[in-house]
Amino acid sequence: MGSALGARLASAGHEVAYGSRTPEDRTGSVSQTDAVQGAELVIIAIPGTAVLSTLEGIGEDVLADRIVLDVSAAFTPDMALAYPNDSVARRVQTRFPRARVVKSLNTMNVSIMVDPLASLSQATVFVSGENQDAKAAVKGLLADLGWTTESILDLGGVASATATEHAAPLFFATYLALQTMRFNIAITR
Ligand SMILES: NC(=O)c1ccc[n+]([C@@H]2O[C@H](COP(=O)([O-])OP(=O)(O)OC[C@H]3O[C@@H](n4cnc5c(N)ncnc54)[C@H](OP(=O)(O)O)[C@@H]3O)[C@@H](O)[C@H]2O)c1
Repeated sequence: MGSALGARLASAGHEVAYGSRTPEDRTGSVSQTDAVQGAELVIIAIPGTAVLSTLEGIGEDVLADRIVLDVSAAFTPDMALAYPNDSVARRVQTRFPRARVVKSLNTMNVSIMVDPLASLSQATVFVSGENQDAKAAVKGLLADLGWTTESILDLGGVASATATEHAAPLFFATYLALQTMRFNIAITR
């Protein structure tokens, strides 16, 4: 996810830094703390169950009031929802109240995230978060990834991230039925 989103955003003119636990083994990456320290917006693209501990390691003062775009999903080892009554995004917002957390892009495969309408006539991308400026910035990034204004559905506050994180079983059931990950949820009315 990180490399696919990063490459697409870089091609749209953004300066992208990749944070890694082992930057010495990953050409072109820096430490997670260095990546966050220089960033206007941080994309969390790691396993959902590792997000809180990773952010603890980076530190509250480094994270500060940055916009945090959380695209993660959190599963147990047997692929059940790790937080059946909660979400990664809400947990991060609660633990780091200064950070401006936005949940988005988590309801689809990465191939659709970076190429939303190339093969799909309709597609919806959900956005959840408390801070309007942060959501506006994320919607700008979504536009850079190719999402139209009409395809973006703002669900409201960060509590609504639970709904999209809990769409993961629907995603996997659909994948098993279709045998492809090139599909997306489309909300029509
Ligand atoms: N792939 C998709 O299409 C897709 C779709 C929707 C949502 N998501 C969610 O988006 C997130 C990223 O997906 P992905 O497919 O890119 O995941 P991934 O390949 O499994 O992991 C991405 C990176 O996270 C770091 N990482 C792995 N385990 C970690 C741990 N225990 N603690 C801290 N960092 C760890 C690794 O980077 P370093 O080794 O360099 O630190 C790894 O390269 C996940 O939460 C996933 O569920 C993915």
